[in-house]
Amino acid sequence: MSRKIGIIGAMELEVEKLIEAMDDKKEIEYAKRTFYEGKLEGTDVVLARCGVGKVNAGVTVQMMVDKFGITEIINTGVAGSLNEKIDIGDIVLATNAVYHDMEAIAFGYERGQVPQMDVFEFPTSKKLVDCAEAACKKVNPDIKVFKGRIASGDQFIADKDTKNNIKKYFDPLCVEMEGAAMAHVAYLNDIGCLIIRAISDKADDSAEMDYPTFERKAAIHCAGMVREMMKNM
Ligand code: ADE
Repeated sequence: MSRKIGIIGAMELEVEKLIEAMDDKKEIEYAKRTFYEGKLEGTDVVLARCGVGKVNAGVTVQMMVDKFGITEIINTGVAGSLNEKIDIGDIVLATNAVYHDMEAIAFGYERGQVPQMDVFEFPTSKKLVDCAEAACKKVNPDIKVFKGRIASGDQFIADKDTKNNIKKYFDPLCVEMEGAAMAHVAYLNDIGCLIIRAISDKADDSAEMDYPTFERKAAIHCAGMVREMMKNM
């Protein structure tokens, strides 16, 4: 079966750069979002921004499966670090994803477990993780890459107590607001999933950084990685 890669970028500049680099482009409006279908470095892709949060993320992946027939999904964006070894500017590749805000303890489920689902954590594709790691080494050799769990929830984490609770229950490398929903929908559809996150903050009340400068760099790094990956699909 020929591959078709769904790419969901969070950063405007990154998506702009990828759209610019696409050939045979078609623009399709659906459900208040814009999809760009075409070729990137010779690989069939469909590209979109999905907006913030789990529902926006999940429905966008399902639309890409149903309307565009994607065989894999790649998501890029930013995240807050939950691990002292991981600093602003580093990259995290998710090996699995969990919801930190799913809670049905009253029915006997472990915190984070979606009731009646056969998995606790949603897996990502090892092949795509390896491919992303190799692409990052090639195009961004100075950036540190970490692999492990990410936790997602409909909440921007910016205080120590909430951060420490998420660490205590899930021990993820980083926290963000979409990845687990994408990995969940990928799991339901049996397609491969990759989540790439550039660390933008420490998910607490520590000093503000220069976000526009960071985002510009992260967007350029992520777009470069995705283009490099598409050369090897
Ligand atoms: N994305 C980037 N930083 C985040 C944070 N601290 N919490 C949730 N999502 C994020």
